[in-house]
Amino acid sequence: MTQKPMSVLRCMECGHTHDLNDPVYVCGKCGGLLDVVHDLELLQPLVSKALFDSRLGEVEPPYNSGVWRFKELVFPGIADEAIITRGEGNTGLYRVPPKLASWVGAERLSLKHEGENPTGSFKDRGMTGGITHAILVKATAVLCASTGNTSASMASYAALAGVQGLVFFPDGNVAAGKLAQSIAYGAINVRVRGDFDASLSLVRQACPEFGIYLLNSVNPFRLEGQKTIVLELLQQRKWRVPDWIVLPGGNLGNSSAFGKGLYELHQLGLIDRMPRIAVIQAEGASPFYQSYVEGFKERHSMKAHTIATAIKIGNPASFIKAKRTLDYTNGVVESVSDQEIVDAKAMVDQAGIGCEPASAASVAGVRKLIEKGVIDKSEDVVAILTGHVLKDPDTVINYHEEKLEGLTSTYANHQRIIDPTLESVEALIRGEKVSIH
Ligand code: F0G
Repeated sequence: MTQKPMSVLRCMECGHTHDLNDPVYVCGKCGGLLDVVHDLELLQPLVSKALFDSRLGEVEPPYNSGVWRFKELVFPGIADEAIITRGEGNTGLYRVPPKLASWVGAERLSLKHEGENPTGSFKDRGMTGGITHAILVKATAVLCASTGNTSASMASYAALAGVQGLVFFPDGNVAAGKLAQSIAYGAINVRVRGDFDASLSLVRQACPEFGIYLLNSVNPFRLEGQKTIVLELLQQRKWRVPDWIVLPGGNLGNSSAFGKGLYELHQLGLIDRMPRIAVIQAEGASPFYQSYVEGFKERHSMKAHTIATAIKIGNPASFIKAKRTLDYTNGVVESVSDQEIVDAKAMVDQAGIGCEPASAASVAGVRKLIEKGVIDKSEDVVAILTGHVLKDPDTVINYHEEKLEGLTSTYANHQRIIDPTLESVEALIRGEKVSIH
């Protein structure tokens, strides 16, 4: 009798299954999105909160990683030596300071800062899973389309694993910090004359054609890693489930991963109820939101425009998986304007926490959902900050110098210029009302 596998790849559209070690990331039969489906009955005796908690003090790879601490739920059965990790995860969960809390209007808001990952975004959690699978299936080159963070992460992990990384960027729309990382880590960086959606479509055609391993979030192993954001935040809260988890949505990989992770935890009895998920899109890049308000009568796509370049995506690849997350969690979708995004970002930055523009969409979203009465101000909310403040220095400086076209710098922090004299310092201190002894 052959043993039942612990996990398989299953097509969400036609149900066809593949072995986990097959070199595929979309359905070999119909091209549909694949899920890593774990047999939760077989998994049940292998997982417990006590096991995951016992690994918290680990200093050595792979269990020092905030992804691989949950290995049984991510890639059951993989040999520890096969794992390519930078000790990703282990990111902070901040109780927001009073000024930010009152600006948002939330009494119980925390921020999970995924910008504290090794390359400065949540992408590292998915990349450790994706690159580990790439090496397992003997890939020698990996490719992604990226608005910048995926590429920074992939370039780093590809270098670590000793394979060549190739990146397709939408021309002229990548924040400086991200581009710099991808160049520095040694990827081959290519500007595609087109937007992110065109770049991703090209990647999806090129990978099978030229035998290159695809590392966008249509790759289900990426999502298995990314779902540990939710696992880790629950663990940090001693497994107390919040009322809401709020995150930005672009290509909708993270939104998909969160729902899957929560569903599995609930089925396995590791949590007793589901939090609600709120996905926040930028107004100018909000096809998922548009479909949501129409009750998903049709799947929208659009030409995307937003200052939050990370989520400047008009045709999200993981649309149907993200819809499943809404179904699992009684979730909602909201959209926020660029003005709301840059102001929320300034407030998060001035709280000393800092994040990139796309991340601030989640905080702007919490504020809006509280204003609308969808989230009650007394509810327990965790918002995800997806990327580091240094990813997009141009937007920071231009905001504070009032140089963002069409936007108001509501909370600008101007630089001051003085002559090199003590009198100038004194005048400055008096003028700024700096408190001194
Ligand atoms: N926040 C940041 C900082 C991102 O970089 C991204 C996506 C998202 C949010 C949206 O996440 O796509 O899972 O809905 N960045 C991708 C990239 C597209 O290429 O780096 P999603």
